[in-house]
Amino acid sequence: MSYMELARIKADNLISARHARILAIESSCDETAAAIVEDGRTVLSNVIASQVETHALYGGVVPEIASRQHIEACDAVVQRALDDANVRLSDLDAIAVTYGPGLVGALLVGVSCAKALAYGANLPLIPVNHIEGHICANYIAHADLEPPFICLVASGGHSHVVEVTDYGEYRLRGNTLDDAAGEAFDKAARVLSIPYPGGPLLDKLAWEGNPNALALPKPRLEGRYDFSFSGLKTALINRVHQLHQAGQDVPAADIAASFRKAVVDQLVSKALLAAREHGAKALAVAGGVAANSLLRQELTEGAQKLRIPCYMPPLSLCTDNAAMIGSAAFWQLLRGELAALDLNAEPGLELPV
Ligand code: KG4
Ligand code: ZN
Repeated sequence: MSYMELARIKADNLISARHARILAIESSCDETAAAIVEDGRTVLSNVIASQVETHALYGGVVPEIASRQHIEACDAVVQRALDDANVRLSDLDAIAVTYGPGLVGALLVGVSCAKALAYGANLPLIPVNHIEGHICANYIAHADLEPPFICLVASGGHSHVVEVTDYGEYRLRGNTLDDAAGEAFDKAARVLSIPYPGGPLLDKLAWEGNPNALALPKPRLEGRYDFSFSGLKTALINRVHQLHQAGQDVPAADIAASFRKAVVDQLVSKALLAAREHGAKALAVAGGVAANSLLRQELTEGAQKLRIPCYMPPLSLCTDNAAMIGSAAFWQLLRGELAALDLNAEPGLELPV
């Protein structure tokens, strides 16, 4: 019997039992991560090897270095995930892996590792979309959360307002027209000489500043739920250059506070508008920017006014991790969506909408 025939039979048994213990691997950017997740919601282990210190030397992620460090870390991270969960490869039901979007070389390391494990252990292979993973982090954190709900997804590469109609079913309601929110935070941080990773440090600094100090433009957008952040970024860069040219000090905390408020106001107002206009019963947020302290505060308050629950993952599940990939993989397995051993990385993969 071929690998694929065997994988299908195993997957069919898991679908009937509606039970699976999945080893998930994530390597789309600068974290090498592996986790073991049961039935989409229970995390048995969650291991992350961060490369932040290395990339900080260069002020941002260097793709070639990221790929090499993934290769060096991958085996140990997987072994640690098994050890932490106190299971062996033979105790697993399936292997899941992020196959996009992300850096192609980085993704390929995880994909190759997952394929080797799936083939070697004769286990079904589940190809997971990284953005979908971010959304599913909420299923881990909140046992009561079930679709439908509106989810604001804001990461380093994406900013979406998504209507989650069912497990694995999405409708894209809003998108960024230019930069992603996380990218905007990182670029703003760089201009303010805040070291990498910019977003979290800018968030911290912003609490020391006046959010009304710098007047920033409000974008006019055609799409009701769309975002635009590049105008804000340009205004910030121009202001900092003007101050430099005039030989004046740059009030970094004030500028950080003003910029954070402008980005967060946009994200929150669009997410709340979508929730209201779609009569959403719940609101969720996902992605690295969901760790932003002002965003969490404003979204919580806004949802309270709408009288709907607001779900957000703990900080550790907002930024990249493999547990969220293991969660997304479970619902995908239930739909019978497996990969063959010729699975390739897809750096530009979009959310399936
Ligand atoms: O989801 P993620 O870990 O990776 C991608 O899939 O892109 O998101 C990383 C992004 C980075 O741009 C980082 O600066 C941003 O999330 N981020 C934050 C915060 N924590 C992480 N941005 C603003 N405030 C934060 N507290
Ligand atoms: Zn991510």
